Amino acid sequence: MKVRIFADAARASRAVARLVARQLEVQPASVLGLPTGRTSVAVYKELVRIGPDFSRARTFNLDEFVGLPAQNRRSFHAFMDRHLLCRVNIPAGHVHFLDGAADDLDAECARFERAIAAAGGMDLVVLGIGANGHIGFNEPGTTLFARTHRARLTAATRRANAGLFAGRPSKVPREALSMGMGTILAARAIVLIATGRSKARAITAMFSGRITPSLPASFLQLHPDTTLVLDRAASRGL
Ligand code: GLP
Repeated sequence: MKVRIFADAARASRAVARLVARQLEVQPASVLGLPTGRTSVAVYKELVRIGPDFSRARTFNLDEFVGLPAQNRRSFHAFMDRHLLCRVNIPAGHVHFLDGAADDLDAECARFERAIAAAGGMDLVVLGIGANGHIGFNEPGTTLFARTHRARLTAATRRANAGLFAGRPSKVPREALSMGMGTILAARAIVLIATGRSKARAITAMFSGRITPSLPASFLQLHPDTTLVLDRAASRGL
């Protein structure tokens, strides 16, 4: 695992945006896996500023809340439109989301896996991390789903996502659809960004050498091309 530590969150975000821009330069038809969350906002802002050519890129978002249609402004789909997709030249047909409002959620997860495979797999997946070590919506537990699945959100994760729901954790859906750790680990390259003190514990635990479902991020140790981009606060336990 490569680790790059920056003085602050702005510099770390810029570094991740540059990595994505470079990926698109080298391979314009890249398939990207993309996250949501507060950390990603600064990355997308910088990416929009750099302005790489997205005309041949394809994107797959990691996860989506169950019950929210794409048009709902609290959905991750709407989040991505606001922060990135409506601001770059990506064709609408190149953008892929899980539909949290699908009638048959299991069929929706299977469709998404097939779509990723049909695109040739992901070249680069960008990840954030939850304070409890979750990736996408792969929550800590005794087992992890390998592939895209329906996930129950922990109280901590619902609290962490309350920002999209007027600060009210009780309004955050109890379930989500998420790529599995196997889906993510099948990407050719992974970049994880973590900024701020609240992420330091999970980042330190990733380096304990143990791979355990109680810390989903620890599975990234199994991947041959993972880069961790941290600010000083998130790296303080290393
Ligand atoms: C959500 C997303 C994750 C993301 C996490 C961190 O739970 N499903 O993909 O990594 O938030 O969010 P933040 O960057 O706001 O701390």
